[in-house]
Amino acid sequence: MQPTIRRLARDAARHRAVGLALGAVNQPYWAARCYGGTDKTSHGYLPLYARYVGPIRMRRNVVVEIGVGNYESPVPGGSLKLWRDYFPRSVVAGVDISHKVVELGPRVKFFQADQSSGEDLAGVVEALGGRLDVVVDDGSHVGEHQWASFQALFPALAPGGWYVLEDLSTSYWPDFRGMIPADSTTAVGLLGALVSDCQVDDPIYVDHPDWGPRPHTLVGTDVAEVHVHPGIAFIRKAARS
Ligand SMILES: C[S@@+](CC[C@H](N)C(=O)[O-])C[C@H]1O[C@@H](n2cnc3c(N)ncnc32)[C@H](O)[C@@H]1O
Repeated sequence: MQPTIRRLARDAARHRAVGLALGAVNQPYWAARCYGGTDKTSHGYLPLYARYVGPIRMRRNVVVEIGVGNYESPVPGGSLKLWRDYFPRSVVAGVDISHKVVELGPRVKFFQADQSSGEDLAGVVEALGGRLDVVVDDGSHVGEHQWASFQALFPALAPGGWYVLEDLSTSYWPDFRGMIPADSTTAVGLLGALVSDCQVDDPIYVDHPDWGPRPHTLVGTDVAEVHVHPGIAFIRKAARS
């Protein structure tokens, strides 16, 4: 074996062992530092992943991330490696509009698809067996696309599943069709609608003699929790869905 190939193989084996161990003890930040290649570390998102999806990481999930990384380059970013080892019993699927060469073992799949196309995403859901447990939207960060993906993928989430929206500041950024104040077409606007949907289950409202139950405002949504942080939001589907 050439020295370079030997070094790469040794690094890969070391990263794999360390990443798996760190994932198993719910340390995604340190696992990602070990691989590099994802900005989830610098954005401060990983302790929040540990808080919300950490409790289900050892289950057999179907985890989908929109946005594999590195834009037109076929080389994936670092997050699929992280998810492979953070969810060691799960199928992990990366979705990107650009072709990527993903060779991260049998549990990691790649789909070339446009997140703004409901048809493309329906094909991804079908290929994954129809049920998702965790969806991470780290794709185009354009509000209309984030809405379209949410409407295509949230209905396919299993009861109690998590939907994650990253890089919310793009709702205010003209390069991503954002504006100040962020309007209803943005991810921040989507979160406003989800907060409203969450109130459908408020027992004070539901049990009130004059008000009673009212319908959800978004098709197919059954939102139990909306956790909003600087840059990122975690939305949990109701367990009864
Ligand atoms: C911020 S990068 C993802 C980084 C990666 N998740 C990581 O942490 O390593 C965004 C990716 O979204 C992809 N993307 C842009 N528009 C898209 C669309 N409409 N549908 C799917 N993917 C898209 C880009 O090709 C790019 O690879």
